[in-house]
Amino acid sequence: MVQPAVLLGLDLGASKVVAVVAVLEDNGTLNVTGASLSPPDGGIRQGEINDMDAAVRAINRAVEEAMRTAGQTRLDGVRVSVDGIQFKGENLRDSVTISTADKVITTLDRDRVLQQAANGCKLAKEEQVLHQLPQMFHIKGQRDLRNPVNMVGDTLEAEIRIIVAPASVVANINRALHLSGLQGSVLMYSPLASMEAVLSREDGENGAVIVDIGDELTHVGVFLRGALFHSAVIPIGGRHFTRDLEITKHLGGISIAERIKRVYGTALPMQVPSEEMIELEDEGRQASRREIAEVLHARAVELLNMVLAEVGRSGLVHEIHGGIHLVGGGSLLPHLPILAQNILGRPRVVIGRVQGITGLPQVIGNPLYTNALGAVKAHARELMEGSAKSPRSGGIKGFIEKLF
Ligand SMILES: Nc1ncnc2c1ncn2[C@@H]1O[C@H](COP(=O)(O)OP(=O)(O)OP(=O)(O)O)[C@@H](O)[C@H]1O
Ligand SMILES: [Mg+2]
Repeated sequence: MVQPAVLLGLDLGASKVVAVVAVLEDNGTLNVTGASLSPPDGGIRQGEINDMDAAVRAINRAVEEAMRTAGQTRLDGVRVSVDGIQFKGENLRDSVTISTADKVITTLDRDRVLQQAANGCKLAKEEQVLHQLPQMFHIKGQRDLRNPVNMVGDTLEAEIRIIVAPASVVANINRALHLSGLQGSVLMYSPLASMEAVLSREDGENGAVIVDIGDELTHVGVFLRGALFHSAVIPIGGRHFTRDLEITKHLGGISIAERIKRVYGTALPMQVPSEEMIELEDEGRQASRREIAEVLHARAVELLNMVLAEVGRSGLVHEIHGGIHLVGGGSLLPHLPILAQNILGRPRVVIGRVQGITGLPQVIGNPLYTNALGAVKAHARELMEGSAKSPRSGGIKGFIEKLF
């Protein structure tokens, strides 16, 4: 790299569009220099563009503000964390014979087996592959290889996870980015961005779960040996907690309920003295803080049981030694990690902290920025590893190649 690369990370969420600008130095240091959060004004719903003009306005606002605070006018690449109610994942496996005399496995063999495994995916007509993620390779007599290239074997077997989404959903996200002047942006499934941001290499290796509690959706990713083995979307997010409060306690409207949740909410009612009351100024009455906590607790229990079911579905219940990492705005509900410890039966449940990035502490320490930071970090890592075209990444296209 001749000069430090200026990288943009975006997160298209239901409650906000996030942009972060980070500078990648030659020595691999990634420094966040600008960031912004912008409400999508209904432009994005459950991960999908719902109103193109509103979405483009929100993206423009976020990017302009992030670039302005970073003092940058140049961009060398864009990564976008995306997800949605219709994103799906599937594990696939296949094998190829190594037919050369010396039986040495080449990169071509590896690519061939990955492609063959991916071809096993029965795509619905309207679906498109977003990622082909290698998990593990096996040769006869030796299992669970991270990279089989240059090893000797008669056959090579690959296990992969495919992430698919409706082609129209992807096309409309790409169009919104295009209309925002961000041609060549590369999309990244949000659990992968969360993983990049908060999981140490060790936690990812030892088995870890990411739970991203957003506004409308919760995304679960189960990682082992650094790879994604299971992913799922649960149609519950912070908004449902707020709605429950308003419906049951009539606090005076959704925005008041939202404020009360943030200021007085907790997932553990027993942490609140039973006589503690909250003043509802607009209503001229009081509400019991314990009862508010009971409503939030009930929804949290429901959500965490659904997370537990997904961890069960992954088949890796006994392999999770790197902890459960909560991210997303919904994870800010006080005492949620303690409740999650009980329900998920895991001693280590933590709020995910972004690792390996320097710069603006108010951005790095704020869970609302996690996925945008993860997107930037993934991009930086690939540039440093020189693997910008690896199948794991889904491939970085023209934009980066043009600029470097
Ligand atoms: N202190 C807090 N306590 C509880 N919930 C909170 C707190 N702060 C924010 N939230 C909730 O976080 C949610 C927004 O989270 P986030 O910004 O991660 O969502 P998003 O990425 O926009 O949405 P999605 O991922 O569903 O597309 C809101 O529903 C909000 O109520
Ligand atoms: Mg989100």
